Amino acid sequence: MNRKIRVLVVDDDSLLRKLIAEQLARADFDTVPAASGRAAMDLLREAEYDVVLLDIMMPDLSGLDALREIRQFEDAPEVIMLTADTSLATGVEAMRHGAYDYLTKPATLDEMETVIRKADEKRRLLKQNASLARPTAAGDETLPIVRQNSAMAALVAQAETAARSDSTVLLTGESGTGKDVLARLIHSKSTRQSMPMITVNCGALPEALFESEFFGHERGAFTGASSLRRGLLEASDGSTLFLDEIGDMPLVMQVKLLHFLEQGRFRRVGSTRDQNADVRVIAATNRNLPQEVKRQCFRADLFYRLNVVSLHVPPLRERPEDIPALIDFFLDLYRKRFVRPNLDLSTEARQRLYSYAWPGNVRELRNCLERAAAISPSDTIETNQIPSLSSESGGVTVRSAAQAAVAVPQSAANENTFSECSMRATEIANAPPRFSASLHALFIANCASTKLKPRPSAWPPKVDRMSVR
Ligand SMILES: Nc1ncnc2c1ncn2[C@@H]1O[C@H](COP(=O)(O)OP(=O)(O)OP(=O)(O)O)[C@@H](O)[C@H]1O
Ligand SMILES: [Mg+2]
Repeated sequence: MNRKIRVLVVDDDSLLRKLIAEQLARADFDTVPAASGRAAMDLLREAEYDVVLLDIMMPDLSGLDALREIRQFEDAPEVIMLTADTSLATGVEAMRHGAYDYLTKPATLDEMETVIRKADEKRRLLKQNASLARPTAAGDETLPIVRQNSAMAALVAQAETAARSDSTVLLTGESGTGKDVLARLIHSKSTRQSMPMITVNCGALPEALFESEFFGHERGAFTGASSLRRGLLEASDGSTLFLDEIGDMPLVMQVKLLHFLEQGRFRRVGSTRDQNADVRVIAATNRNLPQEVKRQCFRADLFYRLNVVSLHVPPLRERPEDIPALIDFFLDLYRKRFVRPNLDLSTEARQRLYSYAWPGNVRELRNCLERAAAISPSDTIETNQIPSLSSESGGVTVRSAAQAAVAVPQSAANENTFSECSMRATEIANAPPRFSASLHALFIANCASTKLKPRPSAWPPKVDRMSVR
């Protein structure tokens, strides 16, 4: 479903009003007719419109007076005046009072369509600038998805196909497997690609802020709401909203999100007016949602609504063919990034990386190579420069690591979700003393740079509570 531009057609001439509304509806606009300036104001108080086509000469409230009132709305639609005056004087006057443009009657459908679309585009850009839109950071967005394993290649192909539809997608898989990467791929291959994807980490949003962050709030809606604030839904209008860690969304918010997904409409906190937003949702979680549903921690109806297209990213240990390709890819990336063109792995280190079970998946592999590339004194990275493989830090064989990963995926995985942290807390705790100080410092730096606080239970021992800010 593509977003339809909502147009309010205001003209006291019933024939003309009907004709314009019908023509625009056929051109795929969502039109509502209003027979007078007063009727238009009532409709505008009830629901949001993108554009108003406003006749100038009307008996009860003139077009210019209506324009003045409309401009008072905090999220005013763009107004295009309809004038019978071919001398242009009234149209120009209206533009001085804030109309987007004017059309001389009778306007052709082409003329109307062009100026309505332009007006809508302007309004959308303004809205996005004024909103708390948090476009997904660029940077990594352009990196390709490495895959050699056939199941992974099939998954990427499925994601590309899903991108062409507007269906909701649910991405599941252990932490670090590449759910974010797939979400970005889907957005970048969709018809919404020209708009930035908005990402929200549901696990990082305090419960009390959920509603106003999602739906926005009116000025004065609650103590401290000193100005109108547009929420994430408005910021994502016409684009994709990526709900990361959806399993952490509080139950009360789940109900409200479901309502929006079903109706396409919502209300800002403190508002009595419905608004539309055309949002494509991609959700991701490393939790087992059906199990969460059974435990009554996740709503079954929301699960089914999100699970329209379901893509499960397998853990790295189940696609060993990807390991060599990923190693080469990241080595190359860090050769360039750190300007170390001759950097490579020793044969032993490479073999060990191939057989390691990667409980932290691609993220662990990537961080491991980044750290080694940064600290290796020589161009050849040896096994002992890779903490995951170091026997002193509890280095693991394929079998034992695979078993461990199966046994502890959720808690270990969740520790990773607070950031692109270079290591898990458990890894820090188990690190040999000589790594300990710098790893603790890195943990704290990661907390600070992401402005997120991991659950205290995820903190490694010896981290000072006060230093995690
Ligand atoms: N197939 C891949 N090709 C290249 N890079 C990848 C691939 N999969 C993952 N990565 C990289 O691995 C890291 C982790 O991936 P990502 O953030 O997508 O994991 P995730 O599944 O979203 O994890 P979490 O559940 O913790 O949010 C990122 O740096 C990403 O760029
Ligand atoms: Mg993620």
